[in-house]
Formats: sequence, C-alpha cells, structure tokens
Amino acid sequence: MNNHQNLNEDLLALILAIRSHLEFYQQLGLTHIEPTSLASNKLLDVSSLDTKKLDDLKSETLEDMTKKITPSTDQLSLFETEENNQIPLSLPSSKKASSIKRSLGKLTLPEIRSEVGHCCQLCNQATNVVFGEGNSSAELMFIGEAPGAEEDATGRPFVGAAGRLLDKIIAAIGLKREDVYITNVVKCRPPNNRKPTNDEMESCEPFLFNEIEVVKPKLIVTLGATPLTSLLNVKEGITKTRGQFYDFNGIPVMPTFHPAFLLRVPEKKREVWEDMKKVMTKLQEIRKGNK
Ligand code: URA
Repeated sequence: MNNHQNLNEDLLALILAIRSHLEFYQQLGLTHIEPTSLASNKLLDVSSLDTKKLDDLKSETLEDMTKKITPSTDQLSLFETEENNQIPLSLPSSKKASSIKRSLGKLTLPEIRSEVGHCCQLCNQATNVVFGEGNSSAELMFIGEAPGAEEDATGRPFVGAAGRLLDKIIAAIGLKREDVYITNVVKCRPPNNRKPTNDEMESCEPFLFNEIEVVKPKLIVTLGATPLTSLLNVKEGITKTRGQFYDFNGIPVMPTFHPAFLLRVPEKKREVWEDMKKVMTKLQEIRKGNK
C-alpha cells in the first residue's frame, strides 16, 4: 500500500469518526459547540448537520474509527456546567457492616477473579464468568447489573450493543475504555437476561465490594437501578435517583440510566449527558483536592 492510499484511508477514518461523534452529540441533545473550541468564529450547528452527504462512506468501520478519537476534557468543559446537586447519603449501617464482613481481605484483582466461579448458582449455567476489566487503578468505575449474551460468550463486561454505547459515553467525557474500570454486580449471566434475584446479588456483592476496595476509584457511575440498590440499598427507581451524587464509603456515586435502556429510549441520552457533565466537574474538583 503506498503513502497516498494510506493518507486517503486515514482521511476517511477521520471523517467517519467525526461523523459518528457529531451524530452522538446530536443524540445527546447538543445543538451547538462554542466557537472558542473551533478554529472558525462561527457556531458549529450540530443540529442541522447533514449526515446524509456522508452516507456513501463505508459505515461498517464506524465503531473502530470512533474508538480512535476522543474529545478532550477541555473541549467538553466548554459545554455549560451546572451546579452539582449533591445529596450526601450516608451508607446504611447494615450495608457498612456487611461490606466489611464480606470483604475478602487484601486480595489482588486476579485473586478476587479466581474466587468468582463459586459465587452463586448462575455460574453453573454460564459459559464464562464475566469479571470486571479496565484500569486497575482507575479514577472512574462503571457498574452495571449483570452480563448479557455477548458478555457470557466472551467473558468480558459490556461488549454487546449496550457496551458499544457505553464506550461512546466514555469517549464523550474524554476518556477511553482502558482508562476506566467496568464491572457488574453479578458476574454470571442470568437466564434470558432476567434481573438477578436478591440472593444472587448478595452472593456476588463481596466480589464487587472487593473490586472497589482494590481499584479505589475516585468516583463511581452506577448504570440502572440494580447497582445502586446493591451498593447503598436504595430501592427507588433510576428516574428518581439519577443525576444526584450518593456516597459509598466516601466515594461519590452518580446513578444514571443503563445504556441498554438508552438503546430503547434514545431521547434519555440527553439526561445521561447531564449526569456525565456532573461526573466530569466532580472529578476535576476531586483532582484539585477540593472534595
Ligand atoms: N448489561 C450489563 O449490565 N452488563 C453487561 O456487562 C452488559 C450488559
């Protein structure tokens, strides 16, 4: 392949990646990007973006291309930020006690992983145990409910359609999948993707609590209602809880909608973006040592 072809391919990749990101911002409900983030003085009108013109371009490579490009945190901080709506909730004493009691002690992530296969009866039927993955000292941890079919087949969390959307959410806040730690409350797939039972969740919680103890994230994002119930025994629905910070053993927790829900109700992406802006602001505050 000559240099000219390489250049053309790089250019095509860049165009596809930009298109994908602009479409994603569109879906998030953004209408304009401030001129200070652009070379030109004009507002970039994202809402009227004519993506059709680009439709001739091969779209099967979109996901791969998108992974290569992430907006910088500076760029994202140009979007209006809102006051954090922090509702400090202390950990119920029953949870505190149980999380300490069920701590597995000072284990490494591979050691915790090696214990998982025996956690609950779901693991007897699973193809693979799906343990957390990512940066073992990540600032940001995402917690989902339980593996689905693709996760069960591959042994990796969030690799199906919901996972691809989660990758985009992570990219929108200026991070890569490898920068964060991604895990689930339950480590084996429930049959037909049913919600895990309380017993199954309780059996798996020690692994989750220990992952948190080892990774020591500065901030946790819980996806959907299940992980918030697991961490803090909060029983309210995600529509009520999302968008406000909770506290798990001193770690701020931001509940937001599960990406699988966003695939069914895409207009809720805007609210997830609001939540992610709060996450970015809070992380910046924590890094500066303010919180
Ligand atoms: N949904 C989850 O909650 N976790 C996964 O790993 C995949 C889908």
